[in-house]
Amino acid sequence: MTDVELREATTADRDGVRALCMKLDPADYVSAAWDEWRAQEGNLMLVARAGDRVVGCVRAGVAAPRQAFSQALRVDPAFRRCGVATRLMNEQAGRLRARGIDVARGVTSVANRRSRPFFATVGWNEIGVRRRRRLPGWTAGARSTATQDGLPDDLLASVEGRAHFRRVLLRADRPWLAAAARDGRWHAKDGAWALLDPPSRDHGAWVVALGGPPAALAELLRTLSPPWRVDGGLIVEAPDDPSVAHALDTLGFAPAPPEDAYVVVECPL
Ligand SMILES: CC(C)(COP(=O)(O)OP(=O)(O)OC[C@H]1O[C@@H](n2cnc3c(N)ncnc32)[C@H](O)[C@@H]1OP(=O)(O)O)[C@@H](O)C(=O)NCCC(=O)NCCS
Repeated sequence: MTDVELREATTADRDGVRALCMKLDPADYVSAAWDEWRAQEGNLMLVARAGDRVVGCVRAGVAAPRQAFSQALRVDPAFRRCGVATRLMNEQAGRLRARGIDVARGVTSVANRRSRPFFATVGWNEIGVRRRRRLPGWTAGARSTATQDGLPDDLLASVEGRAHFRRVLLRADRPWLAAAARDGRWHAKDGAWALLDPPSRDHGAWVVALGGPPAALAELLRTLSPPWRVDGGLIVEAPDDPSVAHALDTLGFAPAPPEDAYVVVECPL
């Protein structure tokens, strides 16, 4: 097999990355995202090259101080099980460490039978499952339910990544959460709580983290009222927690389709 060389991506790799992604999935968001990431400061973008072909790629960006988010790992089928992804992830880890990053996270589909065993072999741990569930008929309650009460010290949350549906996970600390609360994005009552994304015209209300006793959580979501106008239903990023699932079932949320169920993976660096 041709030797595979790893390096930081340059403009010259653009078409090769595109060809790789298109080959794997013509609808892959990475083809378009790659250019946007390259245009931004601070992204670490690696490619694996065999001769004049790009046979692998991966991107990482800073999600919060000392925290990175890794995504867009792709390897050409003709070069799989040869250690290309292992080399890419090890190289990425070393470079992130050198940049002062302590932890990297990513997500992969619950149904991905290649990537889940792969991540385990490179020291990435599965730390939870998220299911994106929708309640299209939901409308906001009459009075704002935003509060500053009951803020935790830290929370695994997500923020909008490239396009609204590609979310970037981070561990939000207390100052981050306090700022979200000041923006009216923290809603809590009777032990239940929900953290909302910033307002979105296109996607209704989006709850990025939630929890609490099922009855209180169902009531909180039913009466949830962000301090901004919301149309377009309610979307939640639900953890695999039976109380949360029960509350959502009670309210009539649709089950997550397979493409909306993902595992969160984490690697201490
Ligand atoms: C997942 C993926 C990146 C793995 O790339 P790769 O270069 O083949 O991985 P490696 O050769 O470094 O694999 C290292 C180890 O991971 C595990 N692994 C990799 N692919 C696997 C598979 N298909 N099934 C089971 N285990 C697998 C094995 O333990 C493997 O070691 P081995 O080959 O000695 O048994 C590749 O299959 C791919 O591009 N898939 C499509 C895109 C994708 O799913 N990306 C991840 C999205 S987050």
